[in-house]
Amino acid sequence: MGNDLPVLISAAAIDRRVTELAEAIDEDHADAGTLVLVGVLKGSFIFLADLARRLRIPHRVEFIAVSSYGSLESEQPGAVRLLMDVRHPIAGQHVVVVEDIVDTGSTLDYLLRLLAARNPSSLKTCSLLHKPERTKADVTIDYLGFTIPDVWVVGYGLDFAERHRTLPDICELPPDRR
Ligand code: IMP
Ligand code: MG
Repeated sequence: MGNDLPVLISAAAIDRRVTELAEAIDEDHADAGTLVLVGVLKGSFIFLADLARRLRIPHRVEFIAVSSYGSLESEQPGAVRLLMDVRHPIAGQHVVVVEDIVDTGSTLDYLLRLLAARNPSSLKTCSLLHKPERTKADVTIDYLGFTIPDVWVVGYGLDFAERHRTLPDICELPPDRR
């Protein structure tokens, strides 16, 4: 199912890049004690699983879930709603938020405000993908996997209406396949 979709980033290329990202996070947090990885559900779960297993520094994993409004006309575009919070406090901890993709940037902007208000020792962002042409929010991605054009991508955790999430490659989903 869906394996004939055009491949944008191969599993092998993802694999190499995830290793590099883990090395960069290791280096920057060598003296941080236990790092807290906050994975943004659902899209980041495969990326987070691979990234976390390549870290050499001590870390723990938390999840947070959000949903974007904006599909209904009555909703403010870019508004984000918290569906599930992290389980443990992050005050005084070094935190890296792990996202699948930064599109408009609204989700990451919301999460950074929410988490920064809890006074972590440091707060950084890691996203596998970024669509700069679409990004409106002023968010910094400290650890970025790949910049991509304005196309809908699926696989490696990313979905379209819950489909194609577990494809090994990141594929483009053309408009006529949605
Ligand atoms: P943002 O808030 O507009 O930056 O986008 C937030 C969320 O939209 C991402 O975390 C994804 O879950 C989803 N998203 C945006 N673009 C894509 C895509 O091309 N494929 C799959 N999900 C996407
Ligand atoms: Mg996401």
